[in-house]
Amino acid sequence: MNPVIRPMTLADVPAVMAIDAVSFPRPWSADEFRREVEANPSACALVAELEGEIVGYAVLWMFHDEAHVGTIASAPAARRRGVGERLLIALFEEAWRREAITLTLEVRVSNLAAQALYARYGFVEAGRRKRYYRDNGEDGLILTVEDFTTPARRAALRARAQSLR
Ligand SMILES: CC(C)(COP(=O)(O)OP(=O)(O)OC[C@H]1O[C@@H](n2cnc3c(N)ncnc32)[C@H](O)[C@@H]1OP(=O)(O)O)[C@@H](O)C(=O)NCCC(=O)NCCS
Repeated sequence: MNPVIRPMTLADVPAVMAIDAVSFPRPWSADEFRREVEANPSACALVAELEGEIVGYAVLWMFHDEAHVGTIASAPAARRRGVGERLLIALFEEAWRREAITLTLEVRVSNLAAQALYARYGFVEAGRRKRYYRDNGEDGLILTVEDFTTPARRAALRARAQSLR
């Protein structure tokens, strides 16, 4: 599977919401996605598109020199086929463009699939938010990649992106 990763548009929002609804206990509203697409200059919203179909999406937020993964998901039928990885690489590239130094995210302690993906990209545990998720009181892990701007790390990511192509 070799989807194109491109900026999310307002027209993509319904398809993105359909994936969001089956991926998270608290899906975002249309307004929340629309805001990231058209009204938040600190955000970068991307989709993965394959043959005209949206198969994944991700949102990056910038806070000074810290980039934060706001959300990322792939369509259930498209999972384990490299969509999440391609989106994550695109977020790293965007974070570089915006001169971030660290990339951070929160993940449920039970979300071993996502943690496996993040571990592959050098994320390490930087903290834990107790009972962070209100739907079930689950803890959130704060994962960070420090110093991801080093030439070695950038070269490794470029090589991985190349091999996925
Ligand atoms: C997490 C998620 C985005 C991964 O997307 P994906 O398209 O399946 O990811 P990829 O196919 O690129 O997987 C890349 C690697 O991540 C790891 N991984 C992904 N899913 C995994 C799973 N279910 N179990 C174990 N490892 C997994 C593997 O190392 C995998 O490489 P491999 O398939 O060569 O073994 C997807 O499972 C998802 O949308 N989950 C629901 C939403 C979510 O939890 N988002 C993250 C919130 S923090």
